[in-house]
Amino acid sequence: MEIRFVLNGKETQVSTAPDRRVVDLLREDLGLTGTKEGCGSGECGACAVLVNGESRLSCLMLAAQLDGKALTTIEGAPEDGRLQALQEAFVRCGAVQCGFCSPGMIIAAADLLGARPDTGREAIREGLSGNLCRCTGYAKIVDAVQAAFEKLQGGPTP
Ligand code: FES
Ligand code: FES
Repeated sequence: MEIRFVLNGKETQVSTAPDRRVVDLLREDLGLTGTKEGCGSGECGACAVLVNGESRLSCLMLAAQLDGKALTTIEGAPEDGRLQALQEAFVRCGAVQCGFCSPGMIIAAADLLGARPDTGREAIREGLSGNLCRCTGYAKIVDAVQAAFEKLQGGPTP
């Protein structure tokens, strides 16, 4: 099946099985290994990508569902700068240990920022509740997301 979609801002066409998982299409066929696979069953959030600006789990999404959509991975850079600001804040705040969860966390946070830019810690925790981290204890991740939100809204940065 020929699938046309916009990948990280570029018109893209691939020939693939319609039931190929998007996480496999990205990592194995297109070489975009920033998107991680943890559980493979919709429970950890490591595989999150933005589809038409909203966070979606690429381990549960099939290639055919991409046709006509805009897909952004952690390698992408949306015009509004959300991903860049979040990535910088994760580094600045020390929110990364092994880094396996970080792409999915940043994608989920970008979605949260677009949908409901509440800089409160509880709102951020709730927004990231579908993303698991086995290393950090979450506090520094929330610090980073809060700092990125505030920076993008013109507020204080740590
Ligand atoms: S790998 Fe997709 S949710 Fe865990
Ligand atoms: S930094 Fe290791 S899983 Fe989150």
